[in-house]
Amino acid sequence: MQLDPTDEQAMIVRTAREFATRVLAPRAAARDQSEQFPVEELGELARLGLLGVNVPAAYGGAQAGPVAYALAMMELARADASVTVAVTVTNMAAELICQWGNEAQRERWVGKLIGGPYVVGSFALSEPHAGSDAGSLHTLATRLPGGGYRLRGTKQWITSGSHAGLFVVWAKTDLAAGQRGLSAFVVEKGTPGLSAGKPEDKMGLRGSSTVQLLLDDVEVGPDALLGREGDGFRIAMTALDGGRIGIASQAVGIATAALEASTRYAKERVQFGAPIANLQAIQLMLADMATWRDAARLLTLRAAWLKESGQSYTLAASIAKLVASEKCSKICDMAVQIHGGYGYTREFPVERYLRDARVTRIYEGTSEIQRVVIAREVLRDMT
Ligand code: CAA
Repeated sequence: MQLDPTDEQAMIVRTAREFATRVLAPRAAARDQSEQFPVEELGELARLGLLGVNVPAAYGGAQAGPVAYALAMMELARADASVTVAVTVTNMAAELICQWGNEAQRERWVGKLIGGPYVVGSFALSEPHAGSDAGSLHTLATRLPGGGYRLRGTKQWITSGSHAGLFVVWAKTDLAAGQRGLSAFVVEKGTPGLSAGKPEDKMGLRGSSTVQLLLDDVEVGPDALLGREGDGFRIAMTALDGGRIGIASQAVGIATAALEASTRYAKERVQFGAPIANLQAIQLMLADMATWRDAARLLTLRAAWLKESGQSYTLAASIAKLVASEKCSKICDMAVQIHGGYGYTREFPVERYLRDARVTRIYEGTSEIQRVVIAREVLRDMT
C-alpha cells in the first residue's frame, strides 16, 4: 500500500480542498439551518469531476480510482457532510451502472448522472419494513406483456430523492426466490407514477434531503434492468462495499474538522490564566481524537487501496466504516466537551459535526451490520 498520494491523487485532493474551502465551508452552517438542497454546488462538483471520481473517462468520469475518491470525500466532508452524502451516493450509483450495466446503459445514463444534467443520483434499496434486512423488501416488479416492468412499492430514507434525476431501484421479480428474486432497475425522474414524499426532519445532515420514494405503477422498459433478473441483491451488496468506503471517508472528514476546530479553540480559550491547551485534561482528549482520526483514515485508505488493486475489500470496507463512524462520533462529542458551553450552541460548528456524525453509524449498514459482515468474513477466512 502506497501512503504518499500519486500526482493524480494529489491533484484531486487539491481540487476538492480548494472547492470545499472556498465554496462549501462558508455556507455549511447556513445550509444546515435553511435545509436548502445544494443544487448549484452539486453542479460545480459535477464540472470538477467529483461526482464520478472512480468512473472511467469513456463515460465522462475522472477515472482517478478509489483512493483518490476516498481522499476527495474526506476533503468535502471536512467542509460540509451534507453535500458530501449526495456526492458519495451519486458516485456509488454511477459506479454501479458502470459495473453492472451493459454498454448501452452506461452510455445512456452515466454521463448525465455525473456530468450535471441529472443533478445527483439516488440509491433506492431500503423500505419502511426492510432496513438492515435488505433482502426482505416488498416492492414488486411485474413483467409487462409487451416487455418491460411495472414497479409498485414504497422506498424509505432515500438520500437526495427529491432532487435526483436518476434512481437505482430494487424490486422483487420472483416472489418465491427470496434474496435471489431481487432485481435492480434504473428509473429516471419524471417517469409517471414516481414521486417523492416530504423531506424527513432529521437530526443532522440537514442540507441533504432524505425522502420516501413512491412507486405507483411505474412502467419501465426492459432496458431499465441492470444485470439479469435475480442479480439485485448481489448488485446492492457489491455497491455497498464501495459505498461504505465513501461513508468511512465522510466520517474521517467530519472528524478532521472537529479535531481542527478543537485544537484552534484550545489554543485561544483562556482559563486559569492560560490557554486550555496547556491543561492535561484537554491534551488527553486531543490526543485520543488525533489517534482515532488517523486510525480511521488509514483503515479507510487501506480499503480503498484494496479495491483499487483489484483485491477483495468487503472485510476492509466494513472495518473502515465501523471504526471511522464510531470514532467520529466520539471525536465530535469530545470536540463539544472541549468547547464547553459554547460547543453546545450554533455559534461554533462542533454541535453540527456531532449531529452530522451520528448517522454515519446507521446508514449504508449500521455498526451492528458491519460487525455481522466482519464476523462472517473473519470466520470464512479461518476455515
Ligand atoms: N458482495 C457480493 N455478494 C454478497 C456480498 C458482498 N459483499 N454480501 C452478500 N453477498 C451475497 C452472498 O454471497 C449470498 O449469495 P448466494 O445467495 O449466492 O449464496 C447472498 O448475497 C446473500 O448473502 P447473505 O446470506 O450474507 O445475506 P443476509 O441477508 O444474511 O445478510 C446483510 C446480508 C449483510 C445483513 C445485508 O442485508 C446488509 O448489508 N444489510 C444492510 C443494508 C444496508 O447497508 N442498507 C443501506 C441502505 S443504502 C444507504 O444507506 C444509502 C444512502 O442513501 C446513504
